[in-house]
Amino acid sequence: MSSTMFILGVTFILIIGWSNLSDSLKVDPPVDVVILDPGHLGNLHIHWKPPASLLNLIECSQQFQLEYLNTYRDTWIKIRTSQTSFKAQFDLEKEIRVRIYTLLTGVCANGSEVVMSTLYTELVQQPAHLGPAGTRVQNFECVFYRREYIECTWLKGHDETVASQRRLFFWHRALGHAKECQHYIYSNTIRRGCNFTHQALPEFTNINFCVNGSSTDGPLRPAFHSLQMQNQIKPAQTTVVRVQAGPDRVLKLHWECPQGRVPRHCLEWEVEHKQDTRTGIH
Ligand SMILES: *[C@@H]1O[C@H](CO)[C@@H](O)[C@H](O)[C@H]1NC(C)=O
Ligand SMILES: *[C@@H]1O[C@H](CO)[C@@H](O)[C@H](O)[C@H]1NC(C)=O
Repeated sequence: MSSTMFILGVTFILIIGWSNLSDSLKVDPPVDVVILDPGHLGNLHIHWKPPASLLNLIECSQQFQLEYLNTYRDTWIKIRTSQTSFKAQFDLEKEIRVRIYTLLTGVCANGSEVVMSTLYTELVQQPAHLGPAGTRVQNFECVFYRREYIECTWLKGHDETVASQRRLFFWHRALGHAKECQHYIYSNTIRRGCNFTHQALPEFTNINFCVNGSSTDGPLRPAFHSLQMQNQIKPAQTTVVRVQAGPDRVLKLHWECPQGRVPRHCLEWEVEHKQDTRTGIH
């Protein structure tokens, strides 16, 4: 774990809730749950310790069930692991909720497959909420033009009174730490976006973005987004190269694949046509 990690905000740990599983064997929930933010703009590291009461159980294997709220899809994700840490992606603008149970298997589970702790340890963490909500940038989007270069753009916050300078940071799995945009896009000397080459942002992996900044009025609310670049592609325009009039007043259109790096098998076309009543050609 890097030494630059720090514990996010104020955390409070609650032990609440009951599971429905049988509890003939008393299994305590894990302890010392912490969420560390290594500065990866939403990719957080969750750590915990096994309960002290289970430290000396030799015949049993311990596992943990971690549940966390995926706020992008508003669903709870459940994973089982024998490790005591896990990395997960969170939206840093939303509340973070994590629950961890202890699971026992082996001889001490007394024949039943798995015994789960009746209690879980829960950690709830509120977002930092720097600056008023109206100072957050609006309409953040990234477009991967022709699969050759990427433009990420935004509009100013609706309560932004003075012109304020923004900074865009990004992180993906291959980077050790978040990097700042190298080529900002300007509109009247104000930053409104960032240009990336296709090598800068890999496809099929989450790219975490943060647009933050400060103004003379005080801090500005940061905006966080997580996108995959293969979902942002916009092909170039298709050009019709040949129109052939066939027999039976039928027209044949031929077109070319658009320029750029979009693979042929990813493309589909839609042809719109209108009949000219004077000629009757389709
Ligand atoms: C294990 O199972 C036996 C027989 O089914 C039962 O008598 C005993 O109380 C159980 N022990 C625990 C720890 O559940
Ligand atoms: C913006 O985010 C970067 C990366 O997380 C951070 O280093 C920087 O301090 C932030 N700036 C402001 C003004 O919050």
